Amino acid sequence: MIWFLNTFVKICSMPFNDLKPQVSLILQSGDLTKDQKLESVCELLQEKVPYYDWVGFYFANDAAQTLHLKAFAGEPTDHTVIPFGKGICGQVAVSNKNFVVPDVKAQDNYIACSLTVKAEIVIPLFKDGKNIGQIDIDSNTADPFSHADERFLEWVNEEVAKVL
Ligand code: SME
Repeated sequence: MIWFLNTFVKICSMPFNDLKPQVSLILQSGDLTKDQKLESVCELLQEKVPYYDWVGFYFANDAAQTLHLKAFAGEPTDHTVIPFGKGICGQVAVSNKNFVVPDVKAQDNYIACSLTVKAEIVIPLFKDGKNIGQIDIDSNTADPFSHADERFLEWVNEEVAKVL
């Protein structure tokens, strides 16, 4: 019963269909630079999705085998450069696959950005078929992410890739 209620609350509170046109508006704006577009998308998602507490885009430097934080909304983090393979982000740089973490405490290869974070989702961003970066979201809510988050964030990344 509790599981059912939690799922029901999650589905009802999902603003993704309302958010898509707003994301598109930002990305199509002629007044914003690419970096400003990324920042505005982070701010929009962090502000509008109640369980998105930190939202950031990392991009890969293939020569150095590192990820670099390009834009974010939420508390500043020390982890602006992450080696491939390290943490959830670094693992996605190598695996090319979505990584949904319902409970960060259960992960061995995890880089803590804040003690309040309970869950994380990282979705790779592909440009011309190549994994060039990722969107990373931290949540202070336990186990908040569903398939709907994955589909939405995949869509966000596809739209972002078009303007890079
Ligand atoms: N937790 C991430 C590091 C980035 S912070 O969440 C901003 C990780 O394990 O890769």
